[in-house]
Amino acid sequence: MKIAPSMLSCDFSKMGQEAKRMTEAKADWLHMDIMDGHFVPNITFGAPIIKSVRAISDLPFDVHLMIEHPLKYIDDFCDAGADIITFHVEAKSDIKKTIEKIKSRNCKPGLVIKPKTPASAVFPYLEDIYMVLVMTVEPGFGGQSFMEDMLPKINEIKEEAKRRGLEILVQVDGGINAKTIGDAAEAGADVFVSGTGVFKAENATAAIMELKAIALKNS
Ligand code: DX5
Ligand code: ZN
Repeated sequence: MKIAPSMLSCDFSKMGQEAKRMTEAKADWLHMDIMDGHFVPNITFGAPIIKSVRAISDLPFDVHLMIEHPLKYIDDFCDAGADIITFHVEAKSDIKKTIEKIKSRNCKPGLVIKPKTPASAVFPYLEDIYMVLVMTVEPGFGGQSFMEDMLPKINEIKEEAKRRGLEILVQVDGGINAKTIGDAAEAGADVFVSGTGVFKAENATAAIMELKAIALKNS
């Protein structure tokens, strides 16, 4: 079980310090939300920013690409220090080629599905990926409400992976906090992204500890 704070909710005027704060708060991974203003109606940051933060934290960087043409930018994000790269099945790049490109750069590939996309959309690729990210909000913005009707997808993916003898991580992203993480853990999720729930908490260490405790109790 892993907690991945989303840097989307950090104070961007001091990203390095924020990454350090999460490292000290015992985050497992750092989740980086990359948005291009095309795939989603919002723009965040790109590879140069990740590269600067890379110098400050040793945590695995989990880079979530919400961009139209992920394949074009895989080299940039790998060069910047990404460890895990997830991209959307709804994006325009060839999925197999993008997975292969990520692997060729020694990064771990993951596929993301938006709320309206069924779990079965990732089934053709299960053999080739490290993780599936089930979005529990419409991608684009932090601070939205958790969509609990997404939870059955977690089980569908886990069951299909099990049937084929595969070990695949399932990640959830969007509206994860102390009230919602229990249900996501019970549904079988392994990795929990939390932006607002961790960054806006009075004490990030306590917030992460609480999230971990609830997730463990329910998994
Ligand atoms: C949404 C992003 C999420 C978001 C999560 O497009 O992918 O990672 O930052 O933020 P919260 O936890 O505030 O919903
Ligand atoms: Zn994300």
